[in-house]
Amino acid sequence: MTILVTGGAGFIGSNFVLDWLAQSQESVVNVDKLTYAGNLANLASLQGNPGHIFVQGDIGDRALIEKLLKQHQVRAVVNFAAESHVDRSIHGPGEFIQTNIVGTFGLLEAVRAHVNGLSDTDKAAFRFLHVSTDEVYGSLSPDAAAFTEQHRYEPNSPYSASKAASDHLVRAYHHTYGLPVLTTNCSNNYGPYHFPEKLIPLMIVNALAGKPLPVYGDGMQIRDWLYVKDHCSAIRRVLEAGRLGETYNVGGWNEKPNIEIVRTIASLLDGLRPRADGKSYAEQISYVTDRLGHDRRYAIDARKIERELGWKPAETFESGIRKTVQWYLDNQEWVAQVQSGSYRDWIAQQYQG
Ligand code: NAD
Ligand code: DAU
Repeated sequence: MTILVTGGAGFIGSNFVLDWLAQSQESVVNVDKLTYAGNLANLASLQGNPGHIFVQGDIGDRALIEKLLKQHQVRAVVNFAAESHVDRSIHGPGEFIQTNIVGTFGLLEAVRAHVNGLSDTDKAAFRFLHVSTDEVYGSLSPDAAAFTEQHRYEPNSPYSASKAASDHLVRAYHHTYGLPVLTTNCSNNYGPYHFPEKLIPLMIVNALAGKPLPVYGDGMQIRDWLYVKDHCSAIRRVLEAGRLGETYNVGGWNEKPNIEIVRTIASLLDGLRPRADGKSYAEQISYVTDRLGHDRRYAIDARKIERELGWKPAETFESGIRKTVQWYLDNQEWVAQVQSGSYRDWIAQQYQG
C-alpha cells in the first residue's frame, strides 16, 4: 500500500516525507505543483529511492489525483498543499482562494470518487488527513485560554479565511458523504527547510547576511512554536489512530513574543558564528511597519491529542531553535539556492523603505 502526500516539496511536507520514509516501508506518492515554495532540493536525499514517487501536479486536478489514487492503490491522503504565507495573502489573495479552497475542493472530489469505488474493507481503512492551522481560530486576548477544538472559527487574514473554508469543506464531506476525514490544526512550525520568508528563517538568513532584522509593529505579537518534526509525528499518530471526523489541535506549549524569538536567534548566532566586529546580531533589529490586521496572539491547547492519542512534543523550544540555527549554518548552499529571483522580488516589495 501507499500514501499520497500533497505539497510534499514544501517546508512541512518535505520534513514529513523524509521522516515517513525513514520510519516506514510504505511508499509515498508526492504531488506538488512546485510553486515558489516547493523545492525538490529538500528531497535530494531521496534520489534513487523507489519508495518516493514525485509527480508535479495541482491538487485541483481531479483526473490526475484520481488516476494516481487508483494506480498506486493509495490507502491514505495527507493534504499539506496550500499557499501558506500570511503576508503574501494580504498582497494577493487570489492564489490562496484558488489553491486552498478551490484546490481542496477538487482534491476532495477526486478522493470521494475513488473511495466510492473501493471494497467495503478498503473503504473502512481509507483516510484523508487535512493539515490545517491554528490561525482559523483568530486572535486571542492576553489572558484568554488557549484554543481548544471547540473554539469558534474567526479567521482574520485572507490566508486563514481560505484555510478555514477548506476545513469546512473537509468537515462537510465527512458529514454529507461519509468521507473518512481527519483534520489537524497546528501552531507555528520551525526547523529545517523552512522557506526564508517566514520569521525564524528570515531572521537567521538576514543576520548572517548583515541585513536588518525586520520586526513588525512592537514585536509583542505572540505565537506558539512547534519543532517541525514534532508536527510530523503528530500527523503520523492522528493518521494511525485518530477518530474519523474529529479535529486535533497540535501545539508545542511554547508561547513567545516575536521580539524574544529574534533576540534568542541573535544570541545563539553570537555564540555559534560571532560577528566580525564583535557586536551582537541584536544590533541589526529594526522595527518596521506592522502587518495589516496582524493577529496579536495564538496559543494551542493540545490536551486532546495527548489524552486520546498519547502524543506530546519531543523537542523543547530551546533544543529545537538551537538545532534550527545550526541547520541553517550548515546548509548555506540550500539557502543560496532558494534565494532565487522571485524570492528577491518578494523581499524588495515587502520591506521597501
Ligand atoms: P509551504 O508554503 O512551505 O509549502 C506548500 C507546498 O504546497 C509547496 O511545496 C507548494 O509547491 C505546494 N503547493 C502549493 N499550491 C499547490 C497546488 N495547487 N497543488 C499542489 N501543490 C501545491 O507550506 P508549509 O509551511 O509547509 O505548510 C504546509 C501546510 O501546513 C499548509 O497547509 C499550511 O496551511 C499548514 N500549516 C503550516 C504551519 C506553519 O507554521 N508553516 C502551521 C500550521 C499549519
Ligand atoms: O500559526 C500557524 C501559521 O504560522 C501557519 O498557518 C502559516 O502557514 C505560517 O506561515 C505561520 O504564520 P505566521 O504569520 O504566524 O508566521 P510568520 O513567520 O509569517 O510570522 C510570525 C510572526 O512574526 C508574526 O507575528 C509576524 C511576525 N513577523 C514576520 C515576518 C516575516 C515579523 O515581525 N517580521 C517578519 O519579517
